[in-house]
Amino acid sequence: MTNSNRLIAGLETSCDETSFSLIEVKTNPGATDSWRLLCHEVHTQSESHTPFGGVVPEIAARDHLAVLPDLVRNGFKKAGRTPSDLTDVAATAGPGLIGAVMVGYTYAQGLSQATGARLRAINHVDAHLAPAILCPQFDFRTEQGSWLPLVKPVYPRLSLTVSGGHCLLTEDHSPVQRRLLGTTLDDACGEAFDKVAKLLGLGYPGGPAIESLALRGDPTRFRFSLPLSTGPAGKHERPSNPLPFSFSGLKTSVLRAFEALEKQGQVRDIDRADLAAGFQSVAIAHLMERLSQALERSPAPVRQIAIAGGVAANNHFRAELKKRFSIPVQIAPLALCSDNATMIALQALLHSEDGDSQAPFARYPFSTLLWEFSAKSHQPGST
Ligand code: KG4
Ligand code: ZN
Repeated sequence: MTNSNRLIAGLETSCDETSFSLIEVKTNPGATDSWRLLCHEVHTQSESHTPFGGVVPEIAARDHLAVLPDLVRNGFKKAGRTPSDLTDVAATAGPGLIGAVMVGYTYAQGLSQATGARLRAINHVDAHLAPAILCPQFDFRTEQGSWLPLVKPVYPRLSLTVSGGHCLLTEDHSPVQRRLLGTTLDDACGEAFDKVAKLLGLGYPGGPAIESLALRGDPTRFRFSLPLSTGPAGKHERPSNPLPFSFSGLKTSVLRAFEALEKQGQVRDIDRADLAAGFQSVAIAHLMERLSQALERSPAPVRQIAIAGGVAANNHFRAELKKRFSIPVQIAPLALCSDNATMIALQALLHSEDGDSQAPFARYPFSTLLWEFSAKSHQPGST
């Protein structure tokens, strides 16, 4: 590593993946800067949580504690670097399960204090978007370790983060200036996938299980209605949440249809597949409708759409996105849709390009339409 290069460590422990990454950033005088991924370590805990049908916070925190030190050691070894090479240490500081967040963030504080590297508190939900913006086509087989251009983000941008805990539609003017357009009134989109999967007797996480079952199902057999679709955004539209999402009614409709089948006798595999396909098609249609409405209503011409979070891994969603819009749609690469530390390191890179670090709010301040994160806070977030 030359003296001018930066080495950024990313740590992610907000939920049920323990992850550590290292990225190197090179300044190229007179040309576009570049970055490369040196290591990407992910340990998934899903097996520990499957018997419970969802993430158990206490198990998650203890598992992070057991796994993280070795993951970090292996990461440095694979990258051929040592902690003393670090210039920045970035960790998820919220939102997330607080016990889990504390494990990673406290570890990062220790790394920063021991090495003098700058500590960067990262908002997990924003970080999901970083790979969509910086490397939507990223392919681990060919690009890990290769220098890639550090592309400049394009604004104004519509961003949608759909994960197990969040459903957030914003209009972005910088990495830290984001106008809230819509969030969920009840369940997050991924959470609804997980709950419907549980109802259908599928494992956790539910999203991939629903998606593969839906491939064998008929999405038109059960005609579930589109959530909040009376009027532009229905009677739930509020100035602080003009394009609201809702998944609990849809989830209940699937439950009622399932109960009706149970009453008639045994629920067959084909019934489950049709329920999965019907649910998936309406859940995704709801996301697509809100994106279209946001685009129609935007006062300034939107130059890009960015999609991220675990649900962005859904192939039916990805196909719909590619068909629908005429402006560029950047979707997080499949391997970086679920929780990972590379997105945390990349978000730190976006922050540093933009000026500074970001306050790790557990929840967005929904009461205000336009907010700017304060630049200096480094406190761990809470749920
Ligand atoms: O972003 P993520 O890994 O973790 C959170 O920050 O929540 O998202 C996990 C969520 C889970 O609810 C999971 O069921 C959902 O993303 N998910 C999917 C798919 N893969 C993961 N949902 C729909 N289709 C998928 N293929
Ligand atoms: Zn996430």
